[in-house]
Amino acid sequence: MPANLLILGGTTEAYDLAERLAGREDWHVINSLAGRTANPRLPAGETRIGGFGGVEGLALYLGECAIRAVIDVTHPFAARMGWNAAEACRLAGVPLLRLERPAWRPGPGDVWEPVETWAEAAEALRRTQARRVLLAVGRQELTHFAGIENIWFLIRLVTPPEPKPNFPAAEWLYSRGPFALDDERALLDTWAIDTLVCKNSGGEATSAKLIAAHERGIRVVMLQRPARPAEVPTAATVDEALTWIDNVFPACTATR
Ligand SMILES: NC(=O)c1ccc[n+]([C@@H]2O[C@H](COP(=O)([O-])OP(=O)(O)OC[C@H]3O[C@@H](n4cnc5c(N)ncnc54)[C@H](OP(=O)(O)O)[C@@H]3O)[C@@H](O)[C@H]2O)c1
Repeated sequence: MPANLLILGGTTEAYDLAERLAGREDWHVINSLAGRTANPRLPAGETRIGGFGGVEGLALYLGECAIRAVIDVTHPFAARMGWNAAEACRLAGVPLLRLERPAWRPGPGDVWEPVETWAEAAEALRRTQARRVLLAVGRQELTHFAGIENIWFLIRLVTPPEPKPNFPAAEWLYSRGPFALDDERALLDTWAIDTLVCKNSGGEATSAKLIAAHERGIRVVMLQRPARPAEVPTAATVDEALTWIDNVFPACTATR
């Protein structure tokens, strides 16, 4: 009888992990999605959708569904779920692993302004006298920048926001990554960008803008990742997560 493994998902890595565990006889995968996206692509295995109802709801779910292990693969900027998972797993006595792609790090010659909040990011733009800014942030974050005078923004989103915040001077661009390096170079040059604002998502799909910015000496205002519970073990790759699964449960995996 396979043991139940819960993947808290919503990221590329979560889809990859579910795919790699598919077909194994020792584990039955249950993926959990928050339900923010209408008609999401479904990962391999079983999928449930929607919040659990906080720490207590998740702890109850872990017991009721006889979950033997949880892997938190939510997005690096999903600030709440990791804390809920840590506390619920502690209460239910279920092992938990955090799988998170490594953060981007500044290299020699990079001009980065690390900030902890979007309000700090807006302040950094004023302080550094930015003039032409590529805003590569989510639609919910736009309000922090909408009122700023004397800065022209190039705002890149996946789809148009509804309603559209009122920027004094802005151009709107709709496209979905991954973005090629040459396209990012052309974008920064065409619009004479002097500052880039983004969050430290990590990964390859959207990192080309950082290379292009580095080449041009363009300042990067980088939102740092939210804090996570220090006691939870972490894996940086799907392979590392699979090793953790096999090591934590040698008895379950011995029959594989
Ligand atoms: N924030 C981002 O930039 C971002 C980017 C890409 C994808 N996502 C994905 O979108 C989801 C929501 O993001 P968020 O920033 O709102 O997260 P969050 O702040 O960490 O979580 C807020 C609440 O949403 C519910 N939730 C979050 N992830 C869930 C999951 N995988 N399964 C079931 N419930 C979940 C939980 O509700 P209850 O307390 O009711 O359990 C949680 O308390 C995450 O799963 C994340 O992976 C987020």
